[in-house]
Amino acid sequence: MRPAFFDGLLLAIETSCDETSAALLDGSKVLSNIVSSQAQLHEKWGGVVPEAASRAHVEAILPVVSEALAASGRTLDEVRGLAVANRPGLVGALSVGVTCAKAFSFARGLPLIGVHHIEGHIASTLTAGPGPNELYPHLCLVASGGHTELILVREPMRYDLLGQTLDDAAGEAFDKGARLLGLPYPGGAALEGLAADGDPRRYQLPRALSDDPYNFSFSGLKSSMLRLVQKEGERINRADAAASLQAAIVEVLVRKAVSAAEANSCCLVSLVGGVAANGILRAEMERECSRAGMRFISPPRELCTDNAAMIGLAGSLRLASGERSGYDLEVCGASPLPV
Ligand code: KG4
Ligand code: ZN
Repeated sequence: MRPAFFDGLLLAIETSCDETSAALLDGSKVLSNIVSSQAQLHEKWGGVVPEAASRAHVEAILPVVSEALAASGRTLDEVRGLAVANRPGLVGALSVGVTCAKAFSFARGLPLIGVHHIEGHIASTLTAGPGPNELYPHLCLVASGGHTELILVREPMRYDLLGQTLDDAAGEAFDKGARLLGLPYPGGAALEGLAADGDPRRYQLPRALSDDPYNFSFSGLKSSMLRLVQKEGERINRADAAASLQAAIVEVLVRKAVSAAEANSCCLVSLVGGVAANGILRAEMERECSRAGMRFISPPRELCTDNAAMIGLAGSLRLASGERSGYDLEVCGASPLPV
């Protein structure tokens, strides 16, 4: 099935966690995508502090929207619709984006749509290369700081959740491991950098739930990593430990994604979410998918971590299908993927 996109200039906003982002889209074309990260603000606490995140979004949102408009070469007068992430996420943070989108929508009489953040990540596959005719059905692995999910994307906006993490998300496993190795928050990219010179076979770390085809568990890995760091103390080779942790996470993600695709007769596998920026994960997915005779796709790295362009793509599909949100649109901390 071919996806249909909203006809007209769309302004999209994302503030679900610690990135303030705005994007302008014309159909499926991303004209601009500005992301202002709060990572430096939260680094000193070693994680996102919700109250501080909300305040920082309030300060950043209007300058970020202005920057996105300027970068698109278009004006606010040309905008014809609004898409905003309204769930799941930090409620205070989400409220900033939703309030801003409602204000624009109300002041200018424009249609508004609230978007599920994970549906946004899934929609980022629309930028990954294959034509829209080739995308459905496919198996999508969402791996981010808050989610690890295997989703069968039957057609635009139709999803089957096959499995998910029972405890920590893959991104959390990277972040917590990174912290144990003395790296700053968020640790995923830094851990990948440290692991580049390391030996992934040096330390044995567990691969959990190997008998469960669809669900994940990363909390045992986190405990094993803690024990390793305590046991080795000063002697630990940090690069080898980073590489060993990365290999443990990557192996489980790749194995389960490929076998879920096989079990559901998919010949296309996509990888989205912040962890999809990981080069080793991308390379391993590519290798194992091609070995299994499947095609592998992933968006450009800047569209893997949180951004408004993906919210715009998902919102564009929903607006084009006639869906609208009212001014009673609420924010929601936890919310299942719409089906
Ligand atoms: O999708 P995202 O930007 O935010 C959420 O929706 O959670 O994902 C953020 C997560 C963090 O845990 C971060 O450490 C991880 O993605 N991440 C990475 C890399 N870049 C970001 N993990 C591994 N390798 C990377 N290169
Ligand atoms: Zn995300």
